[in-house]
Amino acid sequence: MDIFTKFQPLHNAFEQLMSISKHNPFGTTIEKMISPTIGVINGRQTLLFGTNNYLGLSQSDAARHAAAEAAMQYGVGTTGSRIANGTYSLHQELEQDLAKFFNRRSCMVFSTGYQATLGMVSTLAGKDDYLFLDADCHASIYDGSRMSQAQIIRFRHNDADDLRKRLRRLGDIPGNKLIVVEGVYSMFGDIIPLKEFVEVKKEENACLMIDEAHSFGIFGEHGRGIAERDQVEADIDFTVGTFSKSLGTVGGYCVSDHPQMDLLRLCTRPYMFTASLPPEVIAATKANLEIIKNHPELIHKLMDNASRFYHALQNAGFLTGPDISSVISVILEDLPQASQFWNRVLELGAYINLSLPPATPDNRPLLRASIAAAHTTEQIDQLVQIYIQAAQDVGVALKI
Ligand SMILES: Cc1ncc(COP(=O)(O)O)c(C=O)c1O
Repeated sequence: MDIFTKFQPLHNAFEQLMSISKHNPFGTTIEKMISPTIGVINGRQTLLFGTNNYLGLSQSDAARHAAAEAAMQYGVGTTGSRIANGTYSLHQELEQDLAKFFNRRSCMVFSTGYQATLGMVSTLAGKDDYLFLDADCHASIYDGSRMSQAQIIRFRHNDADDLRKRLRRLGDIPGNKLIVVEGVYSMFGDIIPLKEFVEVKKEENACLMIDEAHSFGIFGEHGRGIAERDQVEADIDFTVGTFSKSLGTVGGYCVSDHPQMDLLRLCTRPYMFTASLPPEVIAATKANLEIIKNHPELIHKLMDNASRFYHALQNAGFLTGPDISSVISVILEDLPQASQFWNRVLELGAYINLSLPPATPDNRPLLRASIAAAHTTEQIDQLVQIYIQAAQDVGVALKI
């Protein structure tokens, strides 16, 4: 038996997808970047609406210059983990910058956002503890929960009452309880009713961790996320996030007021057993964080764009998610229709994400657009027209 035999069902599903899809939705190649919102795909200039580059900062001049300077000064890699030779003063400066930005006592920087959530969830929840996870949490949270030895309890998506019920069922059983949620959920762009979750956490004496991957730099007066917007930052025990979206680089972080956070540097495996971020990435991230601090107008531009796109889709009769955020998804009926729609949108000049079950809520196929502050109003309107045209061409029924 071949070691790959177990992948046969995946192979068959992929072959089936490719029999109805001209382009591979999971293998799109950007041949050249023209600007934060335009790239060359299949030899053609294409509008980029599937990149998570929410503030357009992957191409900021300040970050490029800082990266080039850091590479010249320190070299292009640290060749070691944070607990060996991989901590430069740059890493510590970025941790201090982030802690200050969030008004928190400490910050740990990880090499990816995935490793930040993986590391924090797997380490904080020990074998006698209980992890309460929203059903729609990101794969990194679920992978971290499997790495931990805690009891895992899933609750219904965004349903604080369901969480309360499940916490109460435990009664006075010994063990810590860690609730893990997200600010904005990545597939649908829907927002957590965070105040309700904070109430439950307080009632049941649990810890609360929030992943603000898709809300950092976007929500709250200063861009600190949904916890800032909802004025409950003091009730959050651990905030994790990524540099790979609003900050435009790569990496992840956790900020907290817990007085013993530094102990985690000595027992968090995804922090300890991997090389630290290279100097140019740290320098670019620091530069982009300064831009977020000093340019709140970026948040307003992003939300104006998101709102314009969301309302235009609703007026055109598309089935969207419930909230306006940086992620705006359209729900389609079945895989063939979703695949045809995605291909047609690409042919008409825009790149978006095709998200398929089992990675999607309720096992429904989604067309996911990420909206950026860098998009012009004309580009937003162009995407709306492309959606309407694609819907006509592939026979998507619009509810008008
Ligand atoms: C909610 C959430 N957490 C964590 C991550 C992982 O971040 P990164 O891609 O920077 O590793 C993602 C990535 O999409 C995400 O959506």
